[in-house]
Amino acid sequence: MSDGKKKALFICLGNICRSPIAEGVFQKTVNDMNLGDQWEIDSAAIGGWHVGNPPDWRALDTMKNHNVPYNNHARQIVPEDFNHYDYIFGMDEANMRDLNKRAPKGSKAKLLLFGDFDPQGDRIIRDPYYDSDAKGFEKCYQQSLRCSKGFLDSLKQ
Ligand code: 4NP
Repeated sequence: MSDGKKKALFICLGNICRSPIAEGVFQKTVNDMNLGDQWEIDSAAIGGWHVGNPPDWRALDTMKNHNVPYNNHARQIVPEDFNHYDYIFGMDEANMRDLNKRAPKGSKAKLLLFGDFDPQGDRIIRDPYYDSDAKGFEKCYQQSLRCSKGFLDSLKQ
């Protein structure tokens, strides 16, 4: 059964730093364009270490600073996601390798590197988890903003 919505899932290693920011920014971008009701959006992890946890406080701070609402908790990707979502976005090459390995044969979702939609060509959204400050989170926000707009533009062509 299809509800006619386009479905996008954002993936990173832990689902507490990059993919929550990507999810929140993409949701805000479609909401601001009055397209919120046309999209189903979520994020998930490759690994299970942080399941049930809110994002890293630096990710929450960064989103707050930019008025991006966020209320979700980490979950791990499941095989069904590959047939539920139309688009699954990874943040770096390791995510893409993991996604390609886990995708059930013939599954529906397009596996895409989010950074491929950055008009500035900054393709990799680097893992800021082990950084000693929040600069990498701000960079992730800026990349997510450009990539969200870039991806939505690419759907219009
Ligand atoms: P994320 O960052 O993939 O952007 O959520 C990480 C968070 C946690 C871990 C690795 C990356 N970890 O190994 O616990």
